[in-house]
Amino acid sequence: MTKKLKRMATLALAAALLQPHLAAADERLKAIREKWIPGTPMLTEFLPLYPCHSEELPCGQLPPPAVQKVSFKGALKGDAKRGEKIALDVRWGNCATCHSLPGHKGGTVGPSLEDYASRAPSLEYTYQRIWDTRVFNPDAHMPLFGTNSVLTEDEILDVMVFIHQR
Ligand code: HEC
Repeated sequence: MTKKLKRMATLALAAALLQPHLAAADERLKAIREKWIPGTPMLTEFLPLYPCHSEELPCGQLPPPAVQKVSFKGALKGDAKRGEKIALDVRWGNCATCHSLPGHKGGTVGPSLEDYASRAPSLEYTYQRIWDTRVFNPDAHMPLFGTNSVLTEDEILDVMVFIHQR
């Protein structure tokens, strides 16, 4: 076997072995969202859920989740105040670390969203950007808020109302 093949076989084996653990982790992530209040420190009982701190470990070499293409057909309805809180809170949406936002100077990793609404982006576009930005740019340095269950649908909507306001 070539070195590359060996490596691929090892990775496939690692992925297969980890599959049941990942399903269990999914369940536990749901449990987190029932108990943990966003914006507060993570509960210590949940910390063992994040055991992978090295790209050298099999868990650090798992392939990224499949790209999720979503469609948004609804109306822009939500709580702008809550959206602002989610976007500013480093333990919740954390958008401000990379973006300036309406009324707030922020990081410059991503484009400024200060007057995002003036560019009249479609809701469909914004929703997909936040849910899984890889649809537009596979290498974008932005978290996959929907695909990775970082934010709930309601939370994404609140953030959308906040950044779409004029
Ligand atoms: C780690 C940095 C980072 C974080 C955190 C982040 N973003 Fe982004 N965002 C980016 C980058 C980088 C881009 C540009 C992607 C590209 O090049 O395609 C982007 C693009 C966007 C766009 C498209 C902008 C446009 O002009 O079309 C929107 C909307 C957006 N982000 C919203 C958000 C929201 C809302 C949050 C928080 C829930 C967030 N982002 C969190 C880095 C980030």
